[in-house]
Amino acid sequence: MKHLLSANDLTRENAIEILDTAIEMAGVNDREIKKLPTLRGKTVVNLFFEDSTRTRISFEVAAKRLSADVINFAAKGSSVSKGESLKDTAQTLEAMGADAVVIRHYASGAAHTLAHSGWVNGSVINAGDGTHEHPSQALLDAFTLRKAVNQDAAGAGLDGLSVAIVGDIAHSRVARSNLTLLKTLGAKVHLVAPATLLPKGLTDKADSYSYSLDETIDSVDLDAIMMLRVQSERMNASFFPSEREYARIWGLNQDRLARLGENTFIMHPGPMNRGLEIDARSADSRRSLILDQVANGVSIRMAIMYHLLAGGAE
Ligand code: CP
Repeated sequence: MKHLLSANDLTRENAIEILDTAIEMAGVNDREIKKLPTLRGKTVVNLFFEDSTRTRISFEVAAKRLSADVINFAAKGSSVSKGESLKDTAQTLEAMGADAVVIRHYASGAAHTLAHSGWVNGSVINAGDGTHEHPSQALLDAFTLRKAVNQDAAGAGLDGLSVAIVGDIAHSRVARSNLTLLKTLGAKVHLVAPATLLPKGLTDKADSYSYSLDETIDSVDLDAIMMLRVQSERMNASFFPSEREYARIWGLNQDRLARLGENTFIMHPGPMNRGLEIDARSADSRRSLILDQVANGVSIRMAIMYHLLAGGAE
């Protein structure tokens, strides 16, 4: 595998290989000296046209822990503000010798374009393109869930698990990548959203869908519930009556937390709108995996770069 552009690029075997490698990488992250020589002499460019906290920092930490040189490029403050195109930006970075480009872009398909345009020769890793895909997030979510349910023996998938993905599914690249990868790994996926935020193309791929969070909580035995951020910045129309109504009908709150099974884990890719899709007590509850997701992001991104850049060969 040269690029990671979509969760669809991952066979079950590929995905499990990355999850298993991430266990080894987590071991490195627990050591006093958190460093491997694997990518010594290689250069990784973080090319971010959209804001990010978790993804950008964890790719940077991951590349540095594998001994790569890292160049961080944010569109804000660069010549992109003067109108420079993705092509010219990519070719400039290529001229500086990038072995891998980690790209986040507001346009769906930007990572695919970069990988197949010939503008760069190295590997391309999609760190989120528009509303399309965020495959490294799906891998870290799978890794986090596999560990939480003690199903993380080498070679294990997520067979038999049941996961609800709830909220602004229409605008969520996290939902698209997770739906694909969870199914690849054998889990059952239940989509829950207002009708205006639930595209038919995705309901067709899920095991079930509902417009009622209460109905799903009461009728499905869930191992995890993934709450999604309401992406107001991508909404140019009114998709629900008001934030108050959204929180009341589709938000995770104390009443719903109490009705979930004792063993249902709570996940959110971040950043959270506390009080909208999730209340503070649910986000901070002992069943929340939200900070584990952040921590596991470094191990998963080390594993991805190891497989793409070192060929998984060492
Ligand atoms: N989950 C995620 O992509 O977070 P950031 O936008 O902070 O990178």
